[in-house]
Amino acid sequence: MTPENLTPASCDLHCDTFPRVSPKKRIAVIPGDGIGKEVIPQAVRVLEAVGADLAFSHFDWGADRYLADKTTVPADGFAMLARDFDAILMGAFGDPRVPSNVHAKEILLGMRFQMDLYANVRPVRLMDASLCPLKGVEPNGVDFVVIRENTEGVYGDLGGVFKQGTPDEIAIQEDINTRKGVERITRYAFEYCAANKKGDGSPRRRALLCDKSNAMTHAGGLWQRVFKEVGGEYPQIEKQHMYVDALCMQMVRDPREFDVIVTNNMFGDIITDLAAGMQGGLGMAASGNLHPGKTSMFEPVHGSAPLIAGKNMANPLGAILTAAMMLSHLGMTARAEKIETAVLEAVRLHKTTADIGGTLGTREAGEWVAKSVAHR
Ligand code: NAD
Ligand code: IPM
Ligand code: MN
Repeated sequence: MTPENLTPASCDLHCDTFPRVSPKKRIAVIPGDGIGKEVIPQAVRVLEAVGADLAFSHFDWGADRYLADKTTVPADGFAMLARDFDAILMGAFGDPRVPSNVHAKEILLGMRFQMDLYANVRPVRLMDASLCPLKGVEPNGVDFVVIRENTEGVYGDLGGVFKQGTPDEIAIQEDINTRKGVERITRYAFEYCAANKKGDGSPRRRALLCDKSNAMTHAGGLWQRVFKEVGGEYPQIEKQHMYVDALCMQMVRDPREFDVIVTNNMFGDIITDLAAGMQGGLGMAASGNLHPGKTSMFEPVHGSAPLIAGKNMANPLGAILTAAMMLSHLGMTARAEKIETAVLEAVRLHKTTADIGGTLGTREAGEWVAKSVAHR
């Protein structure tokens, strides 16, 4: 049910069994902007209620800080996070008062790149049939994972503009695909497939490469070759391929057929918003930004949602499921499962925000899950 930890965790299940003898895991909490500041406190409250042995440190990185003193990431901020913390729990960045959203780029993309968090793991699981806009899809029917390359592609922002402001203007946005980058994310996907089970306990069996190698032949060719080569080391895993456009169509027609999808940075971004639609919308989607053995970052898939920010309307469940994913990564799988079970119950009982059919506010929905895990 919980995406398993692929890192050699320094703390295993004993953390859950004997919390007092294990050192506290140090968590950096960075809520960010907009609804990030509303949903992350609810995730922290649930982590506290579940009794996880964590020490939280809060950081004010985001638009307010940037507008106040022009700081995006304080000096040595990423080195400090890597050195002093076991994991990072982050909200979202983006604020209409910062039209360029330069702070979002420097904090979020800066963290992914500079901390080399190359695997963006985005599980897609339908908790209750009522959450899926498609007909006839059962819970457990949708249960796949997108493994998104997180440090390359068009996100590197290499390129430039030429003759800006003239009719001859040229804009170039390079797509970076390194052998090393493609190989490590592909291997991560096969390892993930080999090591993890679906929510119903059945093994994961299939790895699918999603690309656009019919049009983007150079990059696509590298991905194809690497997928074939690395896949050869995993004879037990079925290999599949789909062009990203066909995959989008298929995800809407029948999302049940997907298992583990590996793809580049941009396609991964796009298909995971589409996939979030299959599980109840962006308010339900969790993610981890990982590098095995290094301090990793966990964030809901959604953004800062400025239109609903500050109104106690945002769904906190994606952030709460993200917190569960972080616990699982830290080896506290029993507590992670408690949180997931409580979220499932909240969904079934409609103790949720309006986006998924409930009547509660952000704080009240968080409180419901917190109380539920405290009684388990
Ligand atoms: P968004 O995810 O913020 O919102 C998209 C839609 O989903 C909106 O209708 C919003 O109201 C809804 N939504 C999102 N999260 C929700 C939740 N928890 N509960 C209920 N409804 C929710 O995406 P956007 O509107 O494209 O972007 C807004 C800002 O967020 C932009 O500045 C964008 O760059 C930024 N952004 C940041 C991140 C991040 O920091 N990880 C991710 C995506 C977007
Ligand atoms: C996400 C977001 C980011 C991305 C943006 C805010 C740069 O959409 O995490 O999905 O594209 O990676
Ligand atoms: Mn996105």
